[in-house]
Amino acid sequence: MEIIRDPGDIRSAVHRLRARHGLPIGFAPTMGALHEGHLSLIRALRKEGYLPIVSIFVNPIQFGPGEDFERYPRPFAQDCALLEAEGVACLFAPTAERMYRADHTVFVEEAQITRGLCGARRPGHFRGVATVVLKLFHLIGPDAAAFGRKDAQQARLIEKMIEDLNLPIRLLICPIVRESDGLAMSSRNRYLGPEARRQALCLIEGLRQAKTAYEQGERQADRVRAMVADAIARQPLARLDYAEVVDWKTMQPVSVMGPATLLAVAAWVDQTRLIDNLWITPDGVPVL
Ligand code: PAJ
Repeated sequence: MEIIRDPGDIRSAVHRLRARHGLPIGFAPTMGALHEGHLSLIRALRKEGYLPIVSIFVNPIQFGPGEDFERYPRPFAQDCALLEAEGVACLFAPTAERMYRADHTVFVEEAQITRGLCGARRPGHFRGVATVVLKLFHLIGPDAAAFGRKDAQQARLIEKMIEDLNLPIRLLICPIVRESDGLAMSSRNRYLGPEARRQALCLIEGLRQAKTAYEQGERQADRVRAMVADAIARQPLARLDYAEVVDWKTMQPVSVMGPATLLAVAAWVDQTRLIDNLWITPDGVPVL
């Protein structure tokens, strides 16, 4: 696997790969500490006929003051081994100094989708995400990009950025990959001690109850939100950040849960903030 460190080198590397393999390029941006959720994006791109390129970059500008930028896991050798095993031809892993010049002043701001949910709790987070993803898109020039629905608001932001800024990129939004007990995979799960790991199941438990209720005909957003809040309140180490039902396209709150809505939850478990969601597809199918 070719590892590119310098943003100045990635364009020509992608050009060479395109010529050598004769395939369109698929891109999966990550912050590393890779798990099956990340690998599922690579596999989805390959299945759709793209040559996957991965980036690992812990993007400083999407972390707020007091968040976990410094302690974010960076198991680089292990990540490289996983990507090698996956047959990834090229990894882009720039340093922060090379990605952001000291005098960087241009940022990408989205004005609706990113207002609520995680955007309200993590000021500047989505500005940092949109800015780095647009930079990565420009550097790599992919034909397609894969994002996980685990970070639903982020996936919708990228979808909207592609639409609004006319980016010639096909977006694949991939299902949530879960541990066998249902916990959504996340690089941050490794912060959890054994007891917190056990109690972290309250997110999926609340969402499962909401899904069952939905399947039995419940549509009142307040009632499904309360189910999630109650499941979280039952665990002493857990604290609800938000549980909201929003329209998938706008990410604005709705009072009725129906097709193309999202029940999104964020909770602190011990010192770790976790997110998860239940998506109602445009056809009305609830998906965890
Ligand atoms: P990171 O948290 O590393 O996630 C990289 C990609 O993997 C995202 O698209 C995310 O939604 C997806 N992903 C994470 N856990 C998943 C799971 N359990 N199932 C399916 N997909 C999952 O998201 C980021 O990095 C950053 O914000 C980034 C987009 C790289 C910009 O810095």
